[in-house]
Amino acid sequence: MKFTISVLPGDGIGPEVIEQGIKVMEAIGKRFGHTFDYRYGDVGGIAIDRTGSPLPQETIDICINSDALLFGAIGDPKYDNDPTAKVRPEQGLLGLRKALDLYCNIRPLTIFQNLKHLSPIRPENLDGVDFVVYRELIGGIYFGAKGRKEDGNYAFDTCEYRVEEIDRIAKLAFAAARLRGKKLMLVDKANVLETSRLWRERIQQLAKENSDIEVSYMFVDNAAMQMIVNPAQFDVILTTNMFGDILSDESSVLAGSLGLIPSASIGSKTSMFEPIHGSAPDIAGQDLANPIATVASVAMLLDHLKLEKEAETVRAAISELLERGIGTADLKGLEARSCSQVGDELAKIAAG
Ligand code: IPM
Ligand code: MG
Repeated sequence: MKFTISVLPGDGIGPEVIEQGIKVMEAIGKRFGHTFDYRYGDVGGIAIDRTGSPLPQETIDICINSDALLFGAIGDPKYDNDPTAKVRPEQGLLGLRKALDLYCNIRPLTIFQNLKHLSPIRPENLDGVDFVVYRELIGGIYFGAKGRKEDGNYAFDTCEYRVEEIDRIAKLAFAAARLRGKKLMLVDKANVLETSRLWRERIQQLAKENSDIEVSYMFVDNAAMQMIVNPAQFDVILTTNMFGDILSDESSVLAGSLGLIPSASIGSKTSMFEPIHGSAPDIAGQDLANPIATVASVAMLLDHLKLEKEAETVRAAISELLERGIGTADLKGLEARSCSQVGDELAKIAAG
């Protein structure tokens, strides 16, 4: 089959990890008889440098007219300590989420047996850990009314949710639970926030219609703690934009490296696939970055295109490489290879 894939490498280590992801896609294409036609675009800091905008219209057009989007990373330290900057790389990512209506962000956590020593969690507490965070992505405090008043001395960000925004992601989260451990937990702050009470009301209602799924509720502060003391209790975690942002970063360290975790952002238009790590400017351009999160994101992309066998082949390649004790330098204890060498190895294994 033939697919059009938009590719936005972005900033920092984005381009180098994307290059490895493409190598693996090419190997899969050859092996299974698919053609991937890549359309590259700029986003983030690199787009600001080239066009003045973190998300040029041309980039949005490329993405909308493709079957799936592979995204690298964005962010540049020159903006981080300048709160007055008018344009920021992050606006590229947030704008893209909005433009593509990417309301559902999925961040699965996989624990690799031979990487348990890298986790800050005791190995015995990692037994049976396998969960996924479903994070609402285009609502809540990220996109509610915000601004400054009183000569700039007063700032506000508003958390807002509508029932429709809750229902559409809940539907996907229930479906995911059905294919997994049949457990769904809503993480909120319903003891304080009105938006959380609306979420709870809706999920309680939907729980009745999905009676095969065991539904539970947890306040976010407790969930942050439980993720450390008893992470094996989770299956599907459903939560709001900001809580999901925080909890998914927390969950990623359980695996031992940020460089391992992929994500999918599903919407009504083109869906997007990206490693959850950032642009890591300190190691950019040195061929040191871990491309596994990007390659695992390619697997999620293939799944989304209904190429399940192909996706499984990519995941098996990652497992095989790690089992052979090979990885990038962040995976201490493994034989260290460069970013491009790991990409070559993964492509070789995936090619069969
Ligand atoms: C993420 C990131 C983004 C977010 C930033 C870069 C805007 O932290 O994808 O989790 O906060 O959503
Ligand atoms: Mg984040």
